[in-house]
Amino acid sequence: MPKPVLLVTRRLPQAIEARAARDYQARLTASDTPMTDVVAQAAGANAVICCPGDVFDAALIGALPESVKVIATFSVGYDHVDVAAAKARGIAVCNTPDVLSVATAECAMLLILAAARRAGEGERMIRAGNWLGWAPTQLMGTQVSGRRLGIFGFGRIGRELAKMARGFGMAIHYHDVARLPPELEGDAVFHPTEETFLPVCDVLSLHAPGGAGTRHWLNADRIARLPKGAVVANAARGTLVDDIALVAALTSGQVAAAGLDVYDGEPRVNPGYLGLENVVLLPHLGSATTETRDAMGHLALDGIDAVLAGRTPANLVR
Ligand code: DGY
Repeated sequence: MPKPVLLVTRRLPQAIEARAARDYQARLTASDTPMTDVVAQAAGANAVICCPGDVFDAALIGALPESVKVIATFSVGYDHVDVAAAKARGIAVCNTPDVLSVATAECAMLLILAAARRAGEGERMIRAGNWLGWAPTQLMGTQVSGRRLGIFGFGRIGRELAKMARGFGMAIHYHDVARLPPELEGDAVFHPTEETFLPVCDVLSLHAPGGAGTRHWLNADRIARLPKGAVVANAARGTLVDDIALVAALTSGQVAAAGLDVYDGEPRVNPGYLGLENVVLLPHLGSATTETRDAMGHLALDGIDAVLAGRTPANLVR
């Protein structure tokens, strides 16, 4: 029997492309940017691996050939895939949960520390040849130890961040749609409302999914309810932040510093951030470790294997 056909929209780690080529008639690409002719490339394909930044909206999904039975996104976030449209066409959607939680939480911790301790400014100072030596008042930042960390979205990544932050002596607070059971919550303080949550966020880290329901959640009104001089980190989705409001708050000092790994409309970055010293900007590398990207690829392929074998994959998006 011929192997099923798998379309891959981006260049993937070598081990994943090797497995794809072993088990499928794999249509691989050397490109790191979104494929512009997915529908044409998918002719006769049984499965597709896509990535964040690939827009799999209802129009594209509707135009996919009948042969496509499963779309696996090489990401935990699936806000770029219209899951309802896929379901309506009988196409299963898989993602890559769990395996990237630690790497993404590490990235959030990195953003928090870099923003609070002004690491970007210090790096730029040295690279520009402007460092004249140690000085008692130079680049004084905010110590995170002893501060309250507010986590918006206490899912797998948010809870991994909480574990790390406890090691830094931070007190954990969270806001989510529902309170977690004690074994997942630990000593974290649940806030059922934003009214009590926002004022305790000396540091606020965003870990909610993207999509219409959370679009521009961090807006001017909510920023105003943070403690003055709060630190903000976002390693989740850029759409969670109203950039105009955050730029204004970074300029006024309402937010002392921010660390961002994701952007609304990325790879475009709101130009307001670029001139600000007190924001650390990373290029969406939350899950970018070798071991994590391999694990994500294997999980995506496991999902495709299962669907094409008539089984329900553990990583099916429901
Ligand atoms: C995800 O998985 O959703 C990240 O944003 C990319 O790793």
